[in-house]
Amino acid sequence: MHITPFRIEEYMAQYEFAAKYLLSSSDAESVTIAELLALEPGAHDAFLNHWCGYTESSGAPWLREALSTIYTSIAGDQLLVVSAAEEAIFLFYHALLSPNDHAIVETPCYESALTVPKSTGAAVSEWRRKPENGWAHDLAALESLIRPNTRALYINTPHNPTGLLMQPDIYRNVLELAARHGIYVFSDEVYRELEHHPADRLPAACDLYDRALSLGSVSKTYGLPGLRLAWLASHDASFLQKILSLKHYTTICSSAPSEFLTALAFRHRQKFIERNLAIVRHNLPLLSAFFSRHSDLFDWTPPTASTIGFVRFKPQLDVLKFCETLVREAGVLLLPGTVYDEPQHIRFGYGRKNMPDSLAHLESWLANSTRYRSATL
Ligand SMILES: Cc1ncc(COP(=O)(O)O)c(C=O)c1O
Repeated sequence: MHITPFRIEEYMAQYEFAAKYLLSSSDAESVTIAELLALEPGAHDAFLNHWCGYTESSGAPWLREALSTIYTSIAGDQLLVVSAAEEAIFLFYHALLSPNDHAIVETPCYESALTVPKSTGAAVSEWRRKPENGWAHDLAALESLIRPNTRALYINTPHNPTGLLMQPDIYRNVLELAARHGIYVFSDEVYRELEHHPADRLPAACDLYDRALSLGSVSKTYGLPGLRLAWLASHDASFLQKILSLKHYTTICSSAPSEFLTALAFRHRQKFIERNLAIVRHNLPLLSAFFSRHSDLFDWTPPTASTIGFVRFKPQLDVLKFCETLVREAGVLLLPGTVYDEPQHIRFGYGRKNMPDSLAHLESWLANSTRYRSATL
């Protein structure tokens, strides 16, 4: 298998645990294990007595039951638990594709969605959205990419890195188009349930189309990425079985403590949604005001969901150098758009409680760094 380095994760790995002010994180504010165990009486003792043996390869039945409640037509046994969303992406493509196949990927995207299918030897086309038309989805462009051997389509809404939702009519049209051609849709829904207006929430793809697999995770919306737990939901039992067979070569089963803690958190997931939505709603106006004050530097397409947004950096400067200088000099971590092949953009995150503090540090660094300002003149 040949695969290119995962630029997003490599950049994060380099700086995330050294930088003091994380201003680009995609995961919402987390909690401690003590806070999780305080959610239910008896949970503390139950956790201490939880068995640390192997768990079922598909995920513990009580966990799958709890997770299935976010869908309208999926039962626990139509859901496969994996060790993080990242594993699901890897398993999906490798279970489905061979070198004679073709896949289409909505881009810009979380990079593995594009590099993993290429690593199978299959041909891969990008369904690329563009900043100049507000990152709109061009359905005709998608249709023109379909080939007789197209087997997979990756979509992601709410979207990393723009924080935008797909329009509901486009979403249905995409699924109908896939259905007409018998294409499997991998619907990356890891930011679902963090729509800034909950009425904007789209139905899960697995509830609309039999060959769709909805990817869910506790990492982002619920702020529990350290549990490394995610799932795939689908009506296509035989395809889930193929993925499970491959999982026996990756992780076999998930972590027993994580299964316990995820099921516990998920029974109370509304609390996590409300708390994280409150953080986002507090932070977003501050971020918008910051971009207005610095409209000579930034051009902001306000996000409608998730914890992240993609901002155009107006100066004709190298964003990678800009972000690296910022993190070195001020300890503020932004994610350069170069890792998405968008060298004019920067990803901001606003799902952390200390975002106002991180933003204040960015602003004071900008005030003292006249070289960036003068470069715009
Ligand atoms: C769209 C998307 N999919 C998948 C993942 C992977 O998530 P996890 O860390 O839970 O594996 C991420 C992480 O940033 C993401 O943004």
